[in-house]
Order: sequence, then C-alpha cells, then structure tokens
Amino acid sequence: MIECPNIKKTVIRNHYDISTLFYRLMWGPHIHHGLWHANESPAVAQIQLTETLAKLASIQPESVLYDIGCGMGGSSIWLAQNLRCQVTGVTLSPVQRQWATTSAAIKRVQPRPKFRCEDAEAIQFPTGSADVVWSIECTEHLFDKPAFFAKAGSWLKPGGRFALCAWLAGEPPMSEEHANQAMKVCEGMFCPSLGSQSDYIRWFEQAGLKVTATGIWTDQVKQTWEICRKRVEKTGVRYLAKVLGKNHVLFLDHFDAILNAYNSGAMEYGYFVAEKPRS
Ligand SMILES: C[S@@+](CC[C@H](N)C(=O)[O-])C[C@H]1O[C@@H](n2cnc3c(N)ncnc32)[C@H](O)[C@@H]1O
Repeated sequence: MIECPNIKKTVIRNHYDISTLFYRLMWGPHIHHGLWHANESPAVAQIQLTETLAKLASIQPESVLYDIGCGMGGSSIWLAQNLRCQVTGVTLSPVQRQWATTSAAIKRVQPRPKFRCEDAEAIQFPTGSADVVWSIECTEHLFDKPAFFAKAGSWLKPGGRFALCAWLAGEPPMSEEHANQAMKVCEGMFCPSLGSQSDYIRWFEQAGLKVTATGIWTDQVKQTWEICRKRVEKTGVRYLAKVLGKNHVLFLDHFDAILNAYNSGAMEYGYFVAEKPRS
C-alpha cells in the first residue's frame, strides 16, 4: 500500500465542494473513469463502467443500495432509473449532496434516491439492511480502509454484494520510481493511501466477504485522462480554477501524473464484487 500521510479530510471535502463544478463542465455527471470497448463517446464510456459493474454484481431490481462516495449522484440516479434501486447516496461534500438531490428532483427519478452529507468512515446504517453496497472511486480517500470494509460488510444482508471500483497501487514490491509516481498522484488527487488489488481482496476477506469477481481495467479506462487533459487545455477551466485558489489547480495539473503511473504499472484501475455468505 502507498501511504501519503499529509492529506487531511477537510481538504478532501473542500476539494469536492469546489471541483464538482469543474468535473461537471469537463466530464459530466459521473466523477469516474469511462470504460471503453471501442471508440465510444466519454459519456457512453462513463455509463458503460456503471452498467458493467452493475451486471458483474448481478444487482436485482428494487435492491436497497448504499452508494458510498456518491459524487453528483451519477450512479445513484442510474441505478434508481434502470433497476428501480432504493438508493441512499453518501458524500463528504455538502455541495455534492445538494447537486445530487437537485438532479434527482429535476429528472423526476423514481424511486427518488436520498442523499446524505456524511463521512463514510463515521456513518452508521443498520446491520443487515442493504442488498448492495456500491462505491466507485471513493475508497481511495478513506483513511482506515480495513475498518470501513468491516463496517460496510456488516450493513449487507446475507447474500448481499459489495460492488466497487478503485484506483489501485501496483502490486508490491514496487520500485522507488513507481512508488514516487503513485505518491505524486495521492498528493495531487488527495488520497491518504492507495491499496493494491491484493490489499483490497484481503480487506474484503477480513470483513467476512467472498470476492466473486475482480479484474484490472487500466487499459480500458486510462484514456479518460487524455480526454480530460485536452478539455482543460481547450477551455477556460484552468483559468477558473486559478481564480478560486492554487489548491484547485493542483488536481488539473496531475492528469499526466496519473497517465504516467498507469502506463508504468505504478497504478492500476480495478473492479471488485464481494458477497456476504448466506450462512
Ligand atoms: C471521485 S468521486 C466519485 C463520485 C461518484 N462515485 C461517481 O462515480 O460519480 C469521490 C467521491 O468520494 C466522496 N468521498 C471522499 N471521501 C469521503 C468520505 N470520507 N465519506 C463520504 N464520501 C467521501 C467524495 O465526496 C466524492 O463524492
């Protein structure tokens, strides 16, 4: 695992309060990578990632689902609209909570997802209350990942599933150069640590869950950052970020760091589905 001890939770919250507007302008309502099979548009590629993870997790219609790190509600809204899931989305950012709530209302989504502004590391849901825990690109920001997995495992009903995508550190042993590349991404994108695929498998297992599917999508997702970099160059997004403060330009300047880390193997992009045993 790569650890970056300087990151503070207040900085992560502030980052998403401010950067949500940039992500919306530059990328769309989903703050996650696209998944490409061919030359699809970024908007289609973003939906493909959501849809593919939902299929891998065999999410049943009307499931009770907790979307941890829900961003602008992209997944929550998709899962409610397409699978009639009863969704509670959780985000650290009050701006995102308001954004997601407004989007769901404007789109008249039924059943209407609920959005809560809370820390995933502190929130409580009743034991055995969820069919699905869903989390796309949030656990990178958590400080005590094994403790979060243990808690999320307790929320699931027997037979329930945890569906997750995450930026991963490459598998150890890592060269110093690779460790530095991954560290640069952690600093620029506000991740207190990055686990490897085997770290995640261990955290699921320690939480009493059985990993039923996992894989690496790095090659199918990494063009996300080439597209974002071009869009930043072509538009006034960097200027707007500068006006708001130097911290907000930081993440815009780290797109190359992510690409370098993906290309060298210092980082990977992974998906996981883990199931809570029935007995
Ligand atoms: C990269 S965005 C992904 C958003 C969303 N899953 C999506 O795919 O569009 C990361 C999300 O994690 C959330 N997040 C980060 N740390 C969190 C925490 N401790 N508790 C709750 N949410 C958190 C952020 O607020 C943001 O919504």
